[in-house]
Amino acid sequence: MLILIDDADLTKIEGFFAKYPYDGVTTNPTILSKTGNPDPMDQLKKIRAIMPEGTDLHAQVISTETDDMVREAEHMVEVLGKEHMYIKVPVTANGLKAISILSKKGINVTATAIYGVMPAFMAAKAGAKFLAPYVNRLDVLGYDGVGLAIDIHTAVKAAGYEAEVLGASFKNSQQVLDMAKAGIGSVTIGSDALEKLAYNGIAEEAVKVFINDFEGCCGEGKTMLDFN
Ligand code: G3P
Repeated sequence: MLILIDDADLTKIEGFFAKYPYDGVTTNPTILSKTGNPDPMDQLKKIRAIMPEGTDLHAQVISTETDDMVREAEHMVEVLGKEHMYIKVPVTANGLKAISILSKKGINVTATAIYGVMPAFMAAKAGAKFLAPYVNRLDVLGYDGVGLAIDIHTAVKAAGYEAEVLGASFKNSQQVLDMAKAGIGSVTIGSDALEKLAYNGIAEEAVKVFINDFEGCCGEGKTMLDFN
């Protein structure tokens, strides 16, 4: 399962990549706005510059008319490159048309803002590479976010489409684990939930006890390196 960082903050992104080989970075207009940088392309270039080679960057168009979305997406790949670059297009009626046009032009598309199986299925048929259902936002609305993501995965795989579910909008590790157990191809996780995913407090506590016991017997600050 690919695990991506859903954030645009350079310090946080650098910190996450320093700790673990994540598979890429996703942004949306809200996430970019939180950086305070009024030049989103500058921010995306800076993000790309600190991302390890071969990892994927996803960034979203703002326009709402099909032709404008296509122009915007083409501009984005011109500036940011086509390789390992995914243009996020919300699955509105105009967005679906844009997904089809962009996919035919060989531009990688991530269909986003997915709140149902049918929009995801239609986006997959139109050629999207990733389908991003908003798991926690669905849970908040009283729907089953993980269940919907699994239904999308099942339908798309049954139809033989290339698209992978890119689960988005997570608030806890359980939601991510449920996706993993269902064989979902990828998830993107915001900083708060990602911190918790990579932190195993019980193991940290166990290590403290091991060290305390070892030092009590073998001497303070000692490790195996001190013995032959
Ligand atoms: O990528 C979409 C995702 O960022 C939405 O997450 O936390 O705003 O529900 P959230």
